[in-house]
Amino acid sequence: MTSRSLGMLALAALAGGALFVGGAMRGGDALAIEAGSQDGWASRTVWACDQRKAVVVEGVRPDERMKPEKAQQVADLLMDLMRYCNEEITATIGVDQVITVYANGRVYEDYVPGQSLPIMAASFGEPTPRETRIWDAELAKVVAEGDRLFHSDEIGSNGVACAMCHPNASNTHPETYPKFQTQLKKVALLRDMVNWCILNPLEGTALAADDPKLEALEAYILSQRAGTPLQAGKH
Ligand code: HEC
Repeated sequence: MTSRSLGMLALAALAGGALFVGGAMRGGDALAIEAGSQDGWASRTVWACDQRKAVVVEGVRPDERMKPEKAQQVADLLMDLMRYCNEEITATIGVDQVITVYANGRVYEDYVPGQSLPIMAASFGEPTPRETRIWDAELAKVVAEGDRLFHSDEIGSNGVACAMCHPNASNTHPETYPKFQTQLKKVALLRDMVNWCILNPLEGTALAADDPKLEALEAYILSQRAGTPLQAGKH
């Protein structure tokens, strides 16, 4: 199978919503994969954070860690393709290093990163007014919940609330984290100090890092300090 036909397979698999992994092939193909990492039959797919761009690296098994130079090449290619913000794009890096790009049902062979493709390059960071309204409203909800918890006695057990000592989140200094905290005897994140205060003055139970209550408290504290420059480690 040529690198191009393998790429087409990858594209077909992606178009069907499936993740293409070399190991999914059957029969003689599976034997070829076991033959070694230099085998062009194997491939590993790496997705960009937007889940719309994928690079299929041929000659690397699905469970194989890539060498630093290869991993950097994949990262660079994904970032290069991120110029086409909203598009779903797949690229393959063949064992022969030839890059093929599949976008909008078209195939661009011998692609060189940086080269421009006849695809509209979407601009980053320009959400529509509707998106902005939705995101702002979602954030406002979380901040409002944090505000409520900060002023409530429900996260502790003794009737004390955060706001009794920190009105309007004063003296919480979120911008100084991470920093070494002597009480904790370690470098602490804001959430560690929030939990410390939940345990100590409030006599409550520490919250897990992904607890929506902890996220809301952090969102409220940080929103009160919007515009303050970050100063990690400041005492
Ligand atoms: C009884 C008063 C009191 C209550 C109630 C209280 N704190 Fe504190 N909090 C303090 C004091 C005093 C410090 C300073 C400790 C230090 O920096 O060594 C502090 C420190 C902090 C810090 C770190 C500030 C910094 O400068 O780094 C954060 C964040 C914080 N509190 C959040 C909270 C939260 C969230 C709550 C509610 C869960 C809360 N506190 C409840 C008294 C209180």
